[in-house]
Amino acid sequence: MLIHKIEEVRNKIREWKSQGLTIGLVPTMGALHDGHKSLIKKSVSKCDKTVVSIFVNPIQFCPGEDLDKYPRTLDADEKLCNDVGVDIIFAPSPKEMYGEGHIMSNDFLTYVTPPFFYVNKLCGKSRVGHFDGVCTVVNKLFNIVQPDFAFFGEKDRQQLIILKKMVNDLNIPVEIIPCPIVREESGLALSSRNKYLSEEDKKEALALSKILFNIKACYKNGIKDCKALTETAYSYLNSNHSLEYLEFRDANDLEEKNIADENTIVFIALKIKNVRLIDNISLGEL
Ligand code: PAF
Repeated sequence: MLIHKIEEVRNKIREWKSQGLTIGLVPTMGALHDGHKSLIKKSVSKCDKTVVSIFVNPIQFCPGEDLDKYPRTLDADEKLCNDVGVDIIFAPSPKEMYGEGHIMSNDFLTYVTPPFFYVNKLCGKSRVGHFDGVCTVVNKLFNIVQPDFAFFGEKDRQQLIILKKMVNDLNIPVEIIPCPIVREESGLALSSRNKYLSEEDKKEALALSKILFNIKACYKNGIKDCKALTETAYSYLNSNHSLEYLEFRDANDLEEKNIADENTIVFIALKIKNVRLIDNISLGEL
C-alpha cells in the first residue's frame, strides 16, 4: 500500500499497535537495489508488519550536491516492495515532512544534532550538516512509524554508528538492526549512486573494494600498523581516482586507530570523475 500522508500512516500504525503487532521500518531514499532488498527481507521475516519509507531528504544534501539529480524511481521501487511483502510504502513529499517554504532553512526546523566527535571526520568532514539532516529525518520517521525495529545498511557505517548513538542518547524505543553490505560479484558495493557510473567508471570503482579486501588480507597476515596498511592502497589508485579518505577507526565510537585490531573498521571515500563513492570493511569479521 502506497501512502503519501503522515496522518494515514499514523492511523494504520495505531491499528497495528492495538493488535499487538511488531513493526519494522526500513528508511530509504528510494532507487531501491538488492542491498535495500536484503534489508527489507530481513524486516519482513522478523516483524509482523514492515514499512519502507522512500524520501529523498533535502536537508541531508549539502549545497552543490546531487539533490536534484538523485535517482527517483518510485514505480520500480513500489514493485520491488510489493514483491517482497512490504505492508506500507511511505513516500511523503518534502512539504508533507517539512511544511511550506522552509525546507532548506534552519530557521523553521528543530534539528537533531549528533555529537561533534562523530561528525567531524570521514563523510562529515566534507558533508557539513549532512548527519544533522539524517538524524532529524530518521527521528521524524521514528516518531511517525514508531517501529520496534529499524534496519540500516553497514554500507553507510558512519551513519549507522551515529544513529545508534542517537537512539541510545535520546532513549528512543527502537532496536537498530545493522545489515551487511551487499556487493556485486566484482566486489563493488551496491549503492543508488552507482547509477551515475558508466561501465568504464564501474571498473575504476573496483579500486574501493580491492583496497579494502587487500588491507584485510594484509591484516590477517599479521600487519597491524595502520600506516603500513594504508600504503598497500596506493598501487590500486590511478589518475582517475581522487582519494578523499582512507582511515582506520573504532567500530563503536569512530576513534582513530594507529594499530589495527578486531574492532577496527577501514573506511574509504573515493571520487571517480564527479561521483563520490564510499565503502568500508570490518577487520574483525570473517
Ligand atoms: O541511508 C539513507 O538512504 C538515508 O540517509 C536515510 C537513512 C534514509 C535518511 O534519509
